[in-house]
Amino acid sequence: MIFDDTLIKQIGIEFPYAHTDPWGNKRVFLDNGPGTLIVKRAADAMYKASLEFSSSFGPAFPESRIVEEMQENGYQAVSDLLNAGSRDNIVLSQTATSLLFQISYAIGNECNKRHNIVTTYYEHLANVNPWKELVRRGVAGELRFAQLHEDGTLDMDHLRSIVDENTKVITVSAASNLLGSKSPLKEIGTIARDVGAYYVIDGVHHMAHGILDVQDIGCDFLAVSSYKCFAPKYSGFMYGKKEHLENMKPYSSGKDHAHPRGRWSWGTPDHTKLAAITAMVDYLAWLGSRVADKYEGKYTEFNDRIRMLKIAMDAIDLYEKDISRAVLTGFDDMPGLVNMENIKFYGLGDTNRLDERDPTFAFDVGGKTGQQVAERLVEDYNIAIRSILYWSMSEDFFNLHKPVRASFVHYNTIEEVRYFLNALRTISKK
Ligand SMILES: Cc1ncc(COP(=O)(O)O)c(C=O)c1O
Repeated sequence: MIFDDTLIKQIGIEFPYAHTDPWGNKRVFLDNGPGTLIVKRAADAMYKASLEFSSSFGPAFPESRIVEEMQENGYQAVSDLLNAGSRDNIVLSQTATSLLFQISYAIGNECNKRHNIVTTYYEHLANVNPWKELVRRGVAGELRFAQLHEDGTLDMDHLRSIVDENTKVITVSAASNLLGSKSPLKEIGTIARDVGAYYVIDGVHHMAHGILDVQDIGCDFLAVSSYKCFAPKYSGFMYGKKEHLENMKPYSSGKDHAHPRGRWSWGTPDHTKLAAITAMVDYLAWLGSRVADKYEGKYTEFNDRIRMLKIAMDAIDLYEKDISRAVLTGFDDMPGLVNMENIKFYGLGDTNRLDERDPTFAFDVGGKTGQQVAERLVEDYNIAIRSILYWSMSEDFFNLHKPVRASFVHYNTIEEVRYFLNALRTISKK
C-alpha cells in the first residue's frame, strides 16, 4: 500500500475523530459524502483567526494587514491545490451552490432562447437548479441531460449526441455523489471547446479523492465545497478563467471593487475560512511530502507546494483504489458489496475499472429499507452512515429509494472496510 502503517497512524492523529467518536468510543466514519471530517490543523487555524485576528482586513493597522495576508494565503493555497496559475483566479463564497448559481447567472447574461445547456443524469441538484432556472426564466432555451449506462457511468456517446452548435454550456460533476462514477473531464472539455461552449465543473464530490488540475482539464469554471474536503462548512471556492472573472457580468452589488473576485463573491470574505483552507492545503502538502520518495522524477515541472499536492492527491487516489477493491470484492474470507448475498449494489462494480470511480458506494439489502440497515450499522456497530435523499439526478434515473451510501476517504483503513463488510453480512442475513 502507498501509505504504510506509520503514515496511516499519523493521518489518524491529523483527524482525531476519524476512528473515535466525540464520546471517546471506537467508530468507523463512512458518512464522508455529506461532508468529511475536518482536519485538526484547519480547525485550529480557524479558531486562531476567529479569536486573535478578528478585525476586518486592509492596510489600516498591523492586525488588519495580517487578516488580509491570511486571505491572500487562502486564495494562493486554493490556486496551488487546483493548479490555477494565480490566486487572482480564485473566488471564495458561502457554498458551491451559491457559486454555481453565480456562474449560471453570469453565463445567462450571454444566453438567448436558441441556446441549450448540457448536463448529466448524475448531477447533484446544486448543479441542475441554477441551469433549470435559466430555462424557467426564458433566459436559455433548453436543459439537456446525458444518460448513464446501467453501471452508473456516463454514456459519452449520448452526451456527444445532445451537444450542438447552440450549446452554450456543458456542465458536469467531476464525480457522482451517490454512485461514485467519475466523469472523463478532459474528453468532455474537448467536446465543449469544439462547439465554443463554456465548460463548468462541479468538483465538490471528487475534490477529496484525486487531482483536479484546472489548466490540464481546460475548464472555464470549477466549484468546490471546503467541507467536502477536510475544511469547514459554509465555505466554497471556485476557479474561474482570468478573462471570465474580469469581463463577465456576475450578480453583483455593482460597487467598484479593487479586485475582480470582489464582484463574484458577495460581501466581506470570511478570513477564518481562508485560514482553515490554507491549513487543509498544508496538510495535503505534508501528506505528499511523506510519500514523495515514491514519486522520484514525477511532477518535477511544478513548484514545490504544487508538486507535493499533486503527489498527495495521486497517492490518495492510489490508496483509495485499494479501499474500493476491498469494498467491492471483499477479502479471501469475506464477500464484498458485489458478491455478498442479499445485497443489491448500484454503480460500477468492476475492479478492473477503478480509475472510473471514487470510493462512494450505494446499495440496498433485500427485505429491509435503507433506513433500517443504516440504523443497525449505527446502533450495533458504531458505523457512521445514513440512508437519505441524496439530491442526485441518478436517484430518479435508476429509480432508487434512499439506498444506503457508504462513502470512504483516505483516513479510512482496510481494517475498517473489513469491519463494515462483516457488520453488513450479519445484518443482511437477519
Ligand atoms: C456533488 C455535489 N455538488 C454540490 C453540492 C452542494 O455543495 P454546497 O453544500 O457547498 O452548496 C453537493 C453537496 O452535497 C454535492 O455533493
